Amino acid sequence: MGWIRVCDENSLNDGDIKEFDHNNANILIARLKDKIFATDRICTHAYADLSTGFLNEEEKTITCPLHSSDFKLEDGIPQNPPAETPLKTYDVKTEDNGVYVLIE
Ligand code: FES
Repeated sequence: MGWIRVCDENSLNDGDIKEFDHNNANILIARLKDKIFATDRICTHAYADLSTGFLNEEEKTITCPLHSSDFKLEDGIPQNPPAETPLKTYDVKTEDNGVYVLIE
């Protein structure tokens, strides 16, 4: 499918989380300082929406609001139980004040 524009870059501040849906993909966009991450938004353990979770700037993780598994934003790997399955992650680029996510 290719690169999909999800928002203006200047609308995404440090510590912000945005939701983006495209076809069957429910995606979370998060910014920590100059780095923007995109992962699936639904926790791999049970059904919880990670966009209501908590970012950890130092660890670069998002914490599930339901059972507190932490997922690395870079590769989606859970750092603690109960989640065991990584979140899908997406490539992100910025161009012309847009944030784009690569959706296959
Ligand atoms: S639903 Fe996310 S850790 Fe259980």
